[in-house]
Amino acid sequence: MNRKQFFSHLGAIGATVVATPAVMASLPSVPSFAEAKADGQRIRVGVIGCGSVSGMYLPHLSKCAYAEVVSLCDIIPERAQQAAARYNVANWYPHIDKMLAGAPFDLLVNLTDMQEHGRLNRQALMAKVNVWSEKPMANTYAEGRALVDLAAKQGVRIWGAPAVVNSPQFAFMAKQIREQRLGKVAAAHAHYGHQGPNWSAFFFEEGGGSMPDLGVYNISTLTGLLGPVRSVVAMTNVIEPTRNTGNKGYIQVIAEDNAMILMEHANHVLSHIQCGFNYFDPYGHEGTGQTLPTLSVTGSTGSMHLIGYDWKPSAVEMATLDDEKGRRYATDPGAFVWEEGASAICESLATNKEPLIHAEHALHVLEIIEAARLSQTEGRRISLRSSFKWPVMADR
Ligand SMILES: NC(=O)c1ccc[n+]([C@@H]2O[C@H](COP(=O)([O-])OP(=O)(O)OC[C@H]3O[C@@H](n4cnc5c(N)ncnc54)[C@H](O)[C@@H]3O)[C@@H](O)[C@H]2O)c1
Repeated sequence: MNRKQFFSHLGAIGATVVATPAVMASLPSVPSFAEAKADGQRIRVGVIGCGSVSGMYLPHLSKCAYAEVVSLCDIIPERAQQAAARYNVANWYPHIDKMLAGAPFDLLVNLTDMQEHGRLNRQALMAKVNVWSEKPMANTYAEGRALVDLAAKQGVRIWGAPAVVNSPQFAFMAKQIREQRLGKVAAAHAHYGHQGPNWSAFFFEEGGGSMPDLGVYNISTLTGLLGPVRSVVAMTNVIEPTRNTGNKGYIQVIAEDNAMILMEHANHVLSHIQCGFNYFDPYGHEGTGQTLPTLSVTGSTGSMHLIGYDWKPSAVEMATLDDEKGRRYATDPGAFVWEEGASAICESLATNKEPLIHAEHALHVLEIIEAARLSQTEGRRISLRSSFKWPVMADR
């Protein structure tokens, strides 16, 4: 347990200790992650789920100066074994129980099926291990809230994908809105879709769907830019009732593969996102060569359009009253890549610098997805309970 975890643990068990110098001196000397890093140590990472997306995460983590991947796990053990050989990882396991009982690590990176996230994240938190979870962090808002509370009690942290708020284009857009370059912002729209994954059935089974897999990016970006949402109206359906899923052959599609969500933000901005697994997409799953706008924000004196997907942006086009023709900004990609989330959290743990990504934001996005489903089922507008710290900016 590091010092931060130690104090957080003290808080969680309701200790009445006040951190005076005398009390501090009497505490055991436990190195913080930053001190550990200065000693040449990195955040020890265990990755669970060695399927498609691990092929993007593992190269990034392997190059991260703040991370050391010490163990891999997959219920298809040969996947973990092959990835361990490929990325030179010392330990691999066929089950989370064995992984948690094996070589110790500080951060679980959960890249398993969406339906498994809540259960596995909980198990890691119970073992006092920090968690970076692919989206969604849990299957329901209530389950996600319980995980965040559990993390606090256990003296560790949990964070959830996506990492879209880390892009330089997001930062540019957030700054323009903050500085009122668009005047009073009124409306926004975003879309993301492709023809659907063809390697795993879970995307189409209960607990899967185009909202937690694809819409989650647009919802994270729009809430990050425009602030918390207070109500949602949505329509969702299934366009393709059966799918050839790769690992399970043809199955019946249960989760929505087509969704339209209208969001009323607390500051009265209205935004809309659409996502689906039936979208013609000439750019492929990797989004290669996508140079069209996918996300727009409109205000009384200006408008902005994000070029490329919000998880792979390349520029922002902005026009304002004093520059009606507009121009492209934020064309420097910087170091941002969508698969950087777990590495960014390792950096944060190692340096004690708070990341822009926050569990409360991921929870809010999860509640929006759940509200969209309820709106479809009940045919009404759904009010939200959750919120998060906004604006999402480095210097807030
Ligand atoms: N594939 C992508 O390009 C991509 C991109 C961004 C995010 N994601 C997200 O990443 C997650 C995984 O997606 P994927 O495409 O890699 O799926 P996948 O099916 O290719 O891989 C999932 C892996 O998890 C393993 N697994 C499932 N349950 C497990 C358990 N209980 N214990 C250990 N291992 C278990 C499976 O055996 C499989 O190898 C999803 O949440 C998805 O939304 C995927």
